[in-house]
Amino acid sequence: MAERALTDPWTLGGIEIPNRVVLAPLAGIGNWFVRLQAKRYGAGLVVSEMVSSFGIHHGNHKTVTEMLRTVPEEKPVALQLFGQDPDVMRSAAAYVAEHTDVDVIDLNMGCPVPKVMKTGAGAALLKDADTAVAVAAAAREGSGLPVTVKLRSGQRKGEAEGYELAHRLVAEAGVAGISFHPRSAQVHHRGEPDLELARALVASLPVPVILSGGMNEPAWIADAFRFTGAEAVMLARGALGNPWLFARMLGTRDGEPTPARSSPSCTG
Ligand SMILES: Cc1cc2nc3c(=O)[nH]c(=O)nc-3n(C[C@H](O)[C@H](O)[C@H](O)COP(=O)(O)O)c2cc1C
Repeated sequence: MAERALTDPWTLGGIEIPNRVVLAPLAGIGNWFVRLQAKRYGAGLVVSEMVSSFGIHHGNHKTVTEMLRTVPEEKPVALQLFGQDPDVMRSAAAYVAEHTDVDVIDLNMGCPVPKVMKTGAGAALLKDADTAVAVAAAAREGSGLPVTVKLRSGQRKGEAEGYELAHRLVAEAGVAGISFHPRSAQVHHRGEPDLELARALVASLPVPVILSGGMNEPAWIADAFRFTGAEAVMLARGALGNPWLFARMLGTRDGEPTPARSSPSCTG
């Protein structure tokens, strides 16, 4: 089989994605405007910042207006939800399907922030697989949309319950894809991602795996894509203030951006 290129199209839960470079969910950052910028530089799929399923369920004004806002030009777009209560997730997912134009619902099962974990959401779900499966199944039932899950390798260094959970989510909740960040919640965003574990997950799952973690340098990203066999790569911190990274990965731009020789001056 010919080697896949990042420019090749693929499908996620029946949704056509034009290439394999994805904008990661970024809390407090990934609003429609930032997603549109990523799209402008070539992102094949963009994922929203995480949005509280409870905020949607209870009709929090900022949540259901600003945080759920999408624009047609950014499609296909995934909306990331977090929460640990299946009934609340079902209700929030139904609201999203009815009131927005998102293509995919992504569920956060990797957030290491104590404020989120102590409620039982985010990376806490890595050790509560029954609830995690029920939450994912509820999101599917509520929305009728393809549901993906973003998770980590485990809560603590050396643990791999995220790997196990990914299999259960696919087999028992019918999730359409997994975004895998192969670092433990304990290390947050530090250290080398475990690409061997990601490769094993790709080889053993029947659905697309999107690889996250350490996506800063074009050559490293291309190597990680090839080595793991992941369906796509997800740019996060590497694309902050640098949407050109999408273009570089897609071969539509060479080298780092340089400052313009002269910039227009504002004379008021
Ligand atoms: C500021 C910031 C906000 C993030 N917000 C989210 C989020 O809302 N949902 C999520 O699943 N991951 C979130 N992440 C994790 C990223 O999506 C990504 O998995 C992580 O940064 C690893 O990729 P990198 O090493 O290429 O940056 C966030 C990361 C950062 C740095």
